[in-house]
Amino acid sequence: MNFIIKKTLRSLKSTSPLKMELLLFSTYRFIFEKAKIHDIILEVGQNEQLNLFLERLVDFSWDRALKNKTKMEVLSINEAIPTFFIERLIPVMSLRQIKEIIRSMNQYSSKNFLTLRVNNLASNKPLDTLINLIQNDFRKKKITLQKDPEFPYLFYTQTQYKQEILKSKWYRHNVLIFHDWASAAIVELLKPSENDFICDLCAAPGIKSSLIIQLSDNRLKIVCNDFSNSRLNFTKTLFKNMRVLGASLLNSDGANFPTKVNIKFDKILIDAPCTGSGTFLSHPELKWRQNFAFLNQNVMIQEKLIKAGLKLLKSGGILVYSTCSVYPEEGEFQINDIYSQVQPLVLPDYFSPSYKMDDKILKGTGRLIPSIHNTEGFFVSKLKKK
Ligand SMILES: C[S@@+](CC[C@H](N)C(=O)[O-])C[C@H]1O[C@@H](n2cnc3c(N)ncnc32)[C@H](O)[C@@H]1O
Repeated sequence: MNFIIKKTLRSLKSTSPLKMELLLFSTYRFIFEKAKIHDIILEVGQNEQLNLFLERLVDFSWDRALKNKTKMEVLSINEAIPTFFIERLIPVMSLRQIKEIIRSMNQYSSKNFLTLRVNNLASNKPLDTLINLIQNDFRKKKITLQKDPEFPYLFYTQTQYKQEILKSKWYRHNVLIFHDWASAAIVELLKPSENDFICDLCAAPGIKSSLIIQLSDNRLKIVCNDFSNSRLNFTKTLFKNMRVLGASLLNSDGANFPTKVNIKFDKILIDAPCTGSGTFLSHPELKWRQNFAFLNQNVMIQEKLIKAGLKLLKSGGILVYSTCSVYPEEGEFQINDIYSQVQPLVLPDYFSPSYKMDDKILKGTGRLIPSIHNTEGFFVSKLKKK
């Protein structure tokens, strides 16, 4: 819309300023809702300048406006995405693939299902028994919960049942919680077991940590660290409600982890802060934060966290690094830099291979791609410290 408005204003050579809200409203009504000019004027009230704008808007032509634009600029305008986003992906995929990714992140209405996790920590019953009870209960309300083929604690239902889910005793008692499939797939890479000593270096709000602990039946030891105290407070409440036990919460900069003694962990999860360039479906506002400064700021902190994580890890220990970004800078490039210190491990088939670096895929790394996996876009890696 900004593009259309800019073009129309330019042809108008208007000097007196018009309120942007009026321009956006009128443009949206005319171009996208095909409203009649007469009706728009009635809706916004008489305004001489706006009338002139609307007269010019009638002449707006996509063909003319996009003439002489590059393919990348056309894609950027058509799909309402900054060229910065497209430029990041051009070295690693075709323009057609980029378009598919953007489209799947632009179509909010395409996500018509909810993913639910059964949290058996909030009940005294074993997972299987609990699942049967929940499924039977919802069946009576004619709501089906469909099992995820990979993870036994995840289920799907249609978005239309959200209110019923929220009202149910299962949800109110934190036995049933909303949990993204990709987030579970990342936790599963750690293969948490009861004897593990784990550090979740960027843990808040604690969704992944809570699953790590659930998979060990509250038995493993874990340090849940985060830079943000307010987010950690949320973690504290979440863990209490979900009856998650055994976690030590720590508020520190993961890049300068405060170790008095020589603590070494068996496994470390770095679910790093990032540009969120894989999450535009749930956070469309992030599109307009994408620029070099934002990317560099994230890349720098990611580098520091990975370095710190490797130091904190036992030799032979496992490092899982993930970002909800589709940019290679926050994924493959980061891992390429530490390859000499780690041994890549095999990832499950449900991950797509990494982007190619020098024509080769990067072992021990993978991707979830919105247009392929119907999830947010993620980079994941599983590495063993040498
Ligand atoms: C992607 S979120 C983590 C989500 C979390 N793993 C979960 O599943 O609920 C990234 C987190 O990193 C934290 N963070 C940012 N910079 C950090 C730093 N230097 N050290 C530790 N945590 C940091 C942010 O506060 C944020 O909570």
